[in-house]
Amino acid sequence: MLISGRGSNMTALIEAARAADFPARIVLVLANRADAGGLERARAEGIPTAVVPHRGHKDRETFDRLMNAEIERSGAEIVCLAGFMRLLSAWFCRQWHGRLINIHPALLPSFKGLDTHERAIAAGVKIHGATVHFVVPEMDEGPIIAQAAVPVLPDDDAETLGARVLRQEHRIYPLALRLVATGAVQMAEGRAVSTVGGASSAALVSPNPDEAGQ
Ligand code: GAR
Repeated sequence: MLISGRGSNMTALIEAARAADFPARIVLVLANRADAGGLERARAEGIPTAVVPHRGHKDRETFDRLMNAEIERSGAEIVCLAGFMRLLSAWFCRQWHGRLINIHPALLPSFKGLDTHERAIAAGVKIHGATVHFVVPEMDEGPIIAQAAVPVLPDDDAETLGARVLRQEHRIYPLALRLVATGAVQMAEGRAVSTVGGASSAALVSPNPDEAGQ
C-alpha cells in the first residue's frame, strides 16, 4: 500500500484483511513522506513500513524505481494507492498493469484531480461519491472497479461532504481489493471486466440507506 498522509483508507484495508476469509494480506506500507500519519498506525499493526522520499530524484521514474525495489522486496502482488499524492510514471504503471489500484474521492470521470468536494459543491451536482479504479498513466483515468454515491445536501461544505464520501471510501476499497485479489474483476481491453456475475454487479455499490443522508 502506498500512502502520503493520514491513511484512513489504509486502515480500512488493514481492518478488512484481518478477516480470515479476506483474499489478501498487507505486506508493506510505503510512504513518500516520513511524517505520513498512517505509518505509525501500520507499525502499531506490525506491518512492515518503508519511506522513499520523493524529493531529490532526477525524474519521476527514478523515484518510482526506488519504490518498486521496496515493493518487490516485500513480495507484494497488488499495489493499492491509498491517498498517495504523487503521479506515477508510465514505467511504474506498465510494471504493475492490472495490479495497481487507486481510490479517488469523486464519481469518475467527473472531478479528476484535487479539491473534488469543493468542485462538486461549486458545480451544483446533487450526487457525488468515490471510485476505485485500475491505474493507467493518465491521471484518474483507469477502468472503474467500484463506485459509491452519496447525496450532496444543501448545507454541505467540503468538510461535511468529504466526510460522507470518506465513509463510503472505507466500504468500497476493501470490496474492490477483494474483487481484484480473487481475480473476480480484471483489467482487460482497457476496461474492468468481471469474470463472475457480470461487470455491473461488481461495479455498483449503494450507500447504506441509513448512512446516505449523514
Ligand atoms: C482520500 O479521500 C482519497 O480518496 C484521496 O485522498 C484521501 C486520503 O485519505 N485520494 C486522492 O485524492 C488521490 N488523488 P486517507 O489518507 O485518510 O486514506
